[in-house]
Amino acid sequence: MKIGCVKEIKRHEYRVGMTPDCAAAYKAHGHSVTIQAGAGTEAGFPDEQYKAAGAAIEADAKKIFAESDMIIKVKEPQESEFPLFHEGQILYTYLHLAPDEPQTKALLKAKIIGIAYETMQLADGTLPCLKPMSEIAGRLAIQEGAKYLERPFGGRGVLLSGVPGVPRGKVVILGGGVVGMNAAKIAAGMGADVTILDINANRLAYIDDIFGGKVQTLYSNEANVKACIAEADLVVGAVLIPGAKAPHLVRKEHLKLMKKHSVIVDVAVDQGGCIETTHATTHDNPVYLVDDVVHYCVANMPGAVARTSTLALTGTTLNYGLMIADKGAEAACKASPIIMKGLNVYKGHCTYKDVASAHGLEYMPAEKVI
Ligand SMILES: NC(=O)c1ccc[n+]([C@@H]2O[C@H](COP(=O)([O-])OP(=O)(O)OC[C@H]3O[C@@H](n4cnc5c(N)ncnc54)[C@H](O)[C@@H]3O)[C@@H](O)[C@H]2O)c1
Repeated sequence: MKIGCVKEIKRHEYRVGMTPDCAAAYKAHGHSVTIQAGAGTEAGFPDEQYKAAGAAIEADAKKIFAESDMIIKVKEPQESEFPLFHEGQILYTYLHLAPDEPQTKALLKAKIIGIAYETMQLADGTLPCLKPMSEIAGRLAIQEGAKYLERPFGGRGVLLSGVPGVPRGKVVILGGGVVGMNAAKIAAGMGADVTILDINANRLAYIDDIFGGKVQTLYSNEANVKACIAEADLVVGAVLIPGAKAPHLVRKEHLKLMKKHSVIVDVAVDQGGCIETTHATTHDNPVYLVDDVVHYCVANMPGAVARTSTLALTGTTLNYGLMIADKGAEAACKASPIIMKGLNVYKGHCTYKDVASAHGLEYMPAEKVI
């Protein structure tokens, strides 16, 4: 197969869909690889490393789109890329089609085969290509929260670890899933006083076992949430109800319970946020104040640590990508239910139920079209 990887053009997106090691792996499987010049530079992978791995370097993205059987990316295609696809071409990337009607319609019109990282699913319901980004966002939430707690960045001037004789900072994490666990790990490692709230009793028991008493677990209900945020220096929003908008666990009127210049990092912003006053921000301008509480609500947090994120993402996408390249999209879907779950659009058909219903489109089960 001819495989192409283009430079990401979304604002402040520095990740790249393929590392030089990935390029070498595709080559070793007998495929040809073309990388757009400079595609990996911002993540610390210069063109020379791709060349050494056997990839061709091409300056013109249009040429790569035109000549590749499969395009490997990170973010969903941007509007200027919509006309560059051709019928039957495989697009392997994050797509996030449910909230994006124009993109869904453009990809259907282009009759491509769109396999989305975020809907690939293991038998236990977990999302292998989303997990590494949640791990990163969870860890980064504490790093960013600690920074914005510094007074010059707008925070209340609290060091999360405290020092001998001075109390530790209080971190409250709403949701103990992948983001929440990773946030807790870093916060506890820094020596903060950490509380996690979740509605899942098994999850709370697991967290209690793993952290051996270093992290306080609490049932998530309104009374506990209110009591915790009133004490918190840093609140991390990490709730997810799959396929649904995040519930507003902290409402606007609750902000007045919080300490002046405390910080909220609402990682769940991509699902609407679990804080009512959340709205999406960018790495350009990540924070804003509501009722004297600092809000950090960047929707693509992992983009800030492009190198780590690229290595983490490609660590999971490579093996599925190799299967798609080796067998072709149809046979790969038939061989792997995980890849089949990733199929969102197939040659003009919408093959993902939630995407079809989000845009009033006819849903065509993947099994029927391939
Ligand atoms: N902003 C970013 O850059 C970024 C990056 C990665 C992930 N995310 C988002 O972070 C969110 C969390 O992702 P995840 O991978 O940790 O999900 P997850 O499914 O692993 O965890 C979600 C947790 O929320 C809990 N939960 C559900 N309702 C709750 C409630 N009312 N109170 C408390 N807990 C509740 C669930 O029991 C579960 O343990 C998602 O919205 C995800 O899309 C954002």
